[in-house]
Amino acid sequence: MGQIKSETKTRDHIVFYLNGRRIEVRGADALKPLAHLLRYQFGLPGTKVVCSEGDCGACTVLIAPFRQAEIQKFRSINACIAPAYSLDLCHVVTVEGLAIGGELSTVQQAMVDNHGGQCGYCTPGFVCAMTVLAEDCLAENKIISEKRARNYLTGNLCRCTGYEPILKAATAIELDKVISLSRYVSQASIEDFSALSSFDILIQDQNFELNMPGTLTQAVRLKKQSPELRIVGGATDLGVLLNKDKLKLVKVMSLAHVSELEQIQHSGNKIVVGATVTLATLESVLRQQCSELQGIIKVFASPQIKNAGTLVGNVVNASPIADTIPALMVLEGKVIVSSGAGARQIPITEFYKGYKQLDLAADEIVTHIEFEIPSATQVFKLYKVAPRKDLDISVVTCALLFTLKNKKIEAARLAFGGVGPTVLRLSKLEAKLIGQDFSSEVFVQLGLDVEKEIAPISDLRGTKEFRLQLAKNLLKKCYREVSAELGL
Ligand SMILES: Cc1cc2nc3c(=O)[nH]c(=O)nc-3n(C[C@H](O)[C@H](O)[C@H](O)COP(=O)(O)OP(=O)(O)OC[C@H]3O[C@@H](n4cnc5c(N)ncnc54)[C@H](O)[C@@H]3O)c2cc1C
Ligand code: FES
Ligand code: FES
Repeated sequence: MGQIKSETKTRDHIVFYLNGRRIEVRGADALKPLAHLLRYQFGLPGTKVVCSEGDCGACTVLIAPFRQAEIQKFRSINACIAPAYSLDLCHVVTVEGLAIGGELSTVQQAMVDNHGGQCGYCTPGFVCAMTVLAEDCLAENKIISEKRARNYLTGNLCRCTGYEPILKAATAIELDKVISLSRYVSQASIEDFSALSSFDILIQDQNFELNMPGTLTQAVRLKKQSPELRIVGGATDLGVLLNKDKLKLVKVMSLAHVSELEQIQHSGNKIVVGATVTLATLESVLRQQCSELQGIIKVFASPQIKNAGTLVGNVVNASPIADTIPALMVLEGKVIVSSGAGARQIPITEFYKGYKQLDLAADEIVTHIEFEIPSATQVFKLYKVAPRKDLDISVVTCALLFTLKNKKIEAARLAFGGVGPTVLRLSKLEAKLIGQDFSSEVFVQLGLDVEKEIAPISDLRGTKEFRLQLAKNLLKKCYREVSAELGL
């Protein structure tokens, strides 16, 4: 059993503020999804649960975590998959907390005025997602455009009203009348969080154990003592499995309070992403650093998922259709791990040993992912093919990186996802490309060669033949795009 060293102060409960009210959660409740506690313990049934797997947004709530001695801005998450412990040291606002003094908030009023709801199941989630939209536009002094509204509402589905009135409501929000959710962030709550943050968390009974250490040293020590401790990141993969009874977690460790892992560092063309950095934070940093990679994270899931899910979780989850892995495969990605034996770096091309099999020992924690952003003279292309543009799982993914000189290929890196048990880097074909022309003929031949190197299967998302064709088509698309962009 993981015992926290004696000199570390521990608490046996988590604390968050719910619509301004201080809440302590103890025992097994700390492992339950937030939506469950909201509806069945705190008497707040406005948060709906429809899909229970992060897909529909009916359970959207707003959170503002206390990190690095500050309260961050409010963001949306899916309460159906968020474990209650992940809310430790957060302000949480539900749909019940939006009205002010019994009056509908400006956002709620816009939904009413524009007939944005019929059955009402999706409405609380939409209203919460729109509240963040309004807060962000207000903070940035921007109007709410329909494009931005669509982006913020990607994670919210409506089955009966239709999106037109909802988008109309979003763009009709009167920003000058919005009263910010920061009204919930009292000085007393900041002082409370500040005092609580010096405690590690250990909640245990005979059936489970939850650890939330405050330092990486302590996290490594715990993992050494109890290698069976399952590390949970944003729980956007694990939360779904738990809700569907496909997984039972007995011993859990969250790294949410390990401040060393919250950072993104970049020096030169190298970017190092800590284990608890969310995909949303990464997306905003990449906007400046690497627009191609930012573009693939833009079409990753929904804001709610990206506000919780992490890059490390995507890499360790090891899905052959994970959207970030092909990019990391061609960007010299490295998985950095720590254990009692020290740290080691594993090239991501060597991290996957088979379907969901990793070069990761039971006592190792993934602390960072490192990668190199391409230089301006390199050609970098990422593709995701999915039935829908937003909030959909990929059928085939592809990452291509070329160094060209006088229309000749000096170096090439190719990776495909959805075409085998792991994402595949096609090193043999890369070698064959060196010295060849960047020409249509070469890309047609490359398509034929790729077909022999990949081994897709048929499943619900597509047949083997469809995937083979997609792989070839993506190469053609790359050639056409690049030759047009570079005037080749
Ligand atoms: C509605 C929905 C849409 C989605 N859309 C996409 C999509 O478009 N593209 C895509 O690629 N994925 C998608 N996903 C999958 C998921 O969101 C991503 O894989 C995400 O990056 C997982 O990150 P997480 O932090 O939530 O991981 P978690 O669920 O917390 O963990 C995932 C795995 O990583 C392990 N882990 C986490 N952190 C560490 C660590 N530090 N050390 C060791 N092990 C660790 C966990 O034990 C677990 O095995 C979607 C999921 C949902 C529910
Ligand atoms: S209930 Fe559908 S996303 Fe949570
Ligand atoms: S109003 Fe019924 S699902 Fe949206």
